[in-house]
Amino acid sequence: MHRESWASRLGFMLAAMGSAVGLGNIWRFSYVAGENGGGAFLVIYLLSVLIIGVPLLLTEVSIGRKAQSDVVGSYQKLAPRKPWFLVGFLGVGSAFLILGFYSVVAGWALYYLWNYLNGQFFVEPAEGYGAMFEAFTTTTYQPLLWHGLFMAITIFIVLIGVKKGIELANKIFMPVLAILLLLLAAYSLTLDGAMAGMEFLFRPDWSVLNDPSVYLAALGQAFFSLSLGVGTMMTYGSYLSSKDRLPGATVGIGLMDTLFAVVSGIVIFPAVFAFNVQPDSGPGLVFIILPDIFNQMPFGGIVGTVFFLALSLAAISSSISLLEVPVAYFIRVNSWSRRVASIFAGIIIFVLGIGASLGMGTLAGVKLIGDRNIMDTMDLIASNIFLPIGGLAMALFIGWQFKKQEAFEATDLTHSPLRHVWYFVVRFLAPVIILLIFLNSLGII
Ligand code: PHE
Ligand code: NA
Repeated sequence: MHRESWASRLGFMLAAMGSAVGLGNIWRFSYVAGENGGGAFLVIYLLSVLIIGVPLLLTEVSIGRKAQSDVVGSYQKLAPRKPWFLVGFLGVGSAFLILGFYSVVAGWALYYLWNYLNGQFFVEPAEGYGAMFEAFTTTTYQPLLWHGLFMAITIFIVLIGVKKGIELANKIFMPVLAILLLLLAAYSLTLDGAMAGMEFLFRPDWSVLNDPSVYLAALGQAFFSLSLGVGTMMTYGSYLSSKDRLPGATVGIGLMDTLFAVVSGIVIFPAVFAFNVQPDSGPGLVFIILPDIFNQMPFGGIVGTVFFLALSLAAISSSISLLEVPVAYFIRVNSWSRRVASIFAGIIIFVLGIGASLGMGTLAGVKLIGDRNIMDTMDLIASNIFLPIGGLAMALFIGWQFKKQEAFEATDLTHSPLRHVWYFVVRFLAPVIILLIFLNSLGII
């Protein structure tokens, strides 16, 4: 059967950047950094991106491009009759879990956009933005409606397979989001008490590193933010042809994604301290802080509108890349049309998301791992366990299953002076570090 492909390397770059840059950079990065002590977390996060993230990003895209198949099919094709394809199923599972809660949070963003569009959020509600967020997310039906709307949009885009539409939207809105974030960062820095936020983010308090969970949190955030270990980048890579060179592209994606995260940290933390919010207040952080900033600034209502529009679009360009993982799989295995595959996978994900959403309110009593609610549990299992395992397997796959020259060819590194560094990373360093972080967080060492 004929497989689709990107129009150009630029098209791939945009789609991959669109996948990487999303709620992970703004919403997830800030609350995970906040919960894990700020500066020291940032250092471990940056090291994870540099040492593990970018080399594995190149690996993942290369595997997909070489195999020209979905995440399960790629492993099957390159290593027939070996158990590697199980890693592909893990990826499909991660995509379901992640998009399940991602869509709920993206639904919140849509709800905020709607309330800026109709002017409701131009003025602070009497009870404050914090209590308002609380009230909204704990009700039963309203958040589900927005979650459903967001999934419907995601399904619709994946179903028509119009990469043109999303590519174009990305071309316009990613720069808008970047510019807005920079302006907001500059504004945030002028707030009273901003310096305390900058210190929190940039002056590491090394004592937090005594807590083993910080390393796993940083590693998980790196994977999540780079869209790594799910099979998203593998699937996107499979729509590339071998004439496009990959190393530069993947470095660019990693760099861009990291910049978005750091700058949004510079937006959030000065404001967190200026408004006396606890940095570890969890997933609600940006939804409470940002409206507070907008409310204080001139033309804040308009800025808020544009911001939540850009954030929603960034979320969509990530969510379609998540949905594409099971869709590409179902199309191949069941010979389904793209339409049937998208609707089928989308509905399962919608149902998973219902659990995540109700876990904020009606089912708040359901604590699964530790005192984590349903959403946090889905996130923990996917981001901190499944994705690193997916990445570990990918590294071992290319480092040990491939011949050395094959691995260099697949990644376009044959003539690069850095090929030996990359090879050392995927063969030894990344697997060892990931394993150590796992063992460490289990309390074994
Ligand atoms: N990287 C995306 C973000 O930061 C989320 C994502 C994770 C997308 C995994 C695809 C795969 O928002
Ligand atoms: Na990201």
